Amino acid sequence: MVMSLATKIGNITIRNPMILASGVLGTTYSTLNRMYEAGLGAVITKSIGAKSRSGNPNPSVFALNEIRSVINSVGLANPGYQIFREDIEILMKNSTPTIVSIFGENKEEFKEVLEGLKDLPVLAFELNFSCPNTEMGGAQIGTDPDLVYKIVKELRAKTKTPLWVKLTPNVSDVIEIASAAVKGGCDTLVAINTLKAMVIDIHTKQPILGYKKGGLSGAAIKPVGIRYVYDLYEHFGDKIPLIGVGGIFRGEDIIEYLLAGASAVEIGTSLGVAYPENMVRFFQMKIKKYMKEHQFGSISEITGGVHR
Ligand SMILES: Cc1cc2nc3c(=O)[nH]c(=O)nc-3n(C[C@H](O)[C@H](O)[C@H](O)COP(=O)(O)O)c2cc1C
Repeated sequence: MVMSLATKIGNITIRNPMILASGVLGTTYSTLNRMYEAGLGAVITKSIGAKSRSGNPNPSVFALNEIRSVINSVGLANPGYQIFREDIEILMKNSTPTIVSIFGENKEEFKEVLEGLKDLPVLAFELNFSCPNTEMGGAQIGTDPDLVYKIVKELRAKTKTPLWVKLTPNVSDVIEIASAAVKGGCDTLVAINTLKAMVIDIHTKQPILGYKKGGLSGAAIKPVGIRYVYDLYEHFGDKIPLIGVGGIFRGEDIIEYLLAGASAVEIGTSLGVAYPENMVRFFQMKIKKYMKEHQFGSISEITGGVHR
């Protein structure tokens, strides 16, 4: 039987369903290239905004090894699109399939960043409406269906490049936000960003993170991500492609997201805490073994399997 790991996300095809999640190893062209060469299907940049930002005070990342998870409050630190553009141009010269994650404090900033980068032949723009670690933009947008609709609609009118919307799990009704994004004209839904979280040092009696609060990622959030993808697929069926994110540490986790309804997955924390080249190789081996055992010839045959 012929077997292919290639997957279609709307009208984009990538060589396998594994994509580097935004913010982890995605701050320079060299780390992004390295992750593609490690065997991923595509890479996503750190979220890029209108101006340079240094992010929140340190410590901004804290490992929770006992639950293979991380809490971070990095807070959209980035050099701004005018400077980061040079890195994207190098990725384009190398033909690295790249998705650019963008954010803004408001609609005008989202528009400015898109205008400044839309001539580049990137695979898609991922709209980060879901960062929990910032006062403006981020999840403040992603919890407001009207704002989500308006921003997506305006950006849609400005580009033909696919627009992906990255959803926050920190809402009571994800379908309401997702529907607003779809109505605005987005091409793909991505779930999930980090969960609101906090850690306290019992000896100093103070929060550990400089920003006090943060977002939880890693193994602990995988069942949450699965549930969101499942719910989105229940609602939208195959009308809109879904990408699952959160807690992928093993090939089995990727298969679980596909069965829940995802056409691809994004992987962050695990690639940042282990040797990524080995991780990607193990992921690939596991997916191929599963496909062989269950006689799947393509990723699309696995997608949504739990709903059938
Ligand atoms: C240190 C760190 C920085 C992150 N920065 C971003 C970011 O800039 N933009 C974004 O959309 N998500 C960001 N994320 C969230 C991840 O892309 C991903 O949604 C989340 O970590 C869950 O996936 P994981 O469990 O595989 O890490 C960040 C996560 C971490 C751990």
